[in-house]
Amino acid sequence: MYFMDMHCHILPGVDDGSRDEAMSMEMIGIAYSQGIRKIVLTPHYYVGKTKKTASDLKAIFDKFEPMVKKDYPEIDLYMGNEIYWGRGAVEGLKEGIINTYGDSKYVLVEFSPRCSYNEVYGAVRELVQHRFRPIIAHMERYQCLNKHMERVEEIIENGAYLQMNVDSLIGSLFDGHTKWCRKLVLEGYISLLGTDAHNIDDRAPYIEQTVSWLKKKLDEDSFEALMHGNGEAILDNKWLD
Ligand SMILES: [Fe+2]
Repeated sequence: MYFMDMHCHILPGVDDGSRDEAMSMEMIGIAYSQGIRKIVLTPHYYVGKTKKTASDLKAIFDKFEPMVKKDYPEIDLYMGNEIYWGRGAVEGLKEGIINTYGDSKYVLVEFSPRCSYNEVYGAVRELVQHRFRPIIAHMERYQCLNKHMERVEEIIENGAYLQMNVDSLIGSLFDGHTKWCRKLVLEGYISLLGTDAHNIDDRAPYIEQTVSWLKKKLDEDSFEALMHGNGEAILDNKWLD
């Protein structure tokens, strides 16, 4: 059993994640030790601010991937972006300046933690209208969705998929937010998990505790889907169940 990381900042020197190749290789080493075998690299993309386009990222990826393959031949890397939602995102995606997940129709979008529900709902509608399939990055971070099951259900009905960070599932059992996150996973609202790893210190790609919790709590099919099945379906541009 292996894990596919659907959200991380391991590509070197492109955002507030890994600062250089040495740190990226250390992060890959940690990921490997945790049973991570597929990784979608999702650097931040701020419309109107980020200078690195998909082709700039590809050049960095093409240099980085052989380094990873040399030390960790079992690890497969893919390219994506974490798009901070704003005017021009759809155009950037259509022009190929911003990456979808692999070459699929799925796109990872993030918002400000204090964004309004209207903004999230509007983004989902706009992306779907343009035939993209929105995945809400670390959905547990947005106040407007927190403990609003009816809103969570509404965006899913409108075509959104939800990604959660692995760390959100291993807080204290007495913590209301951890409980909410666990409920969302156990009831099947979350399609994807990611480490959102940024470095080797406080945001490193450790997943073992979350994986052992998932294994205990989920049936085999749901466990496998969250570990890697859904991520693989996305890269194949298949519809998720
Ligand atoms: Fe991120």
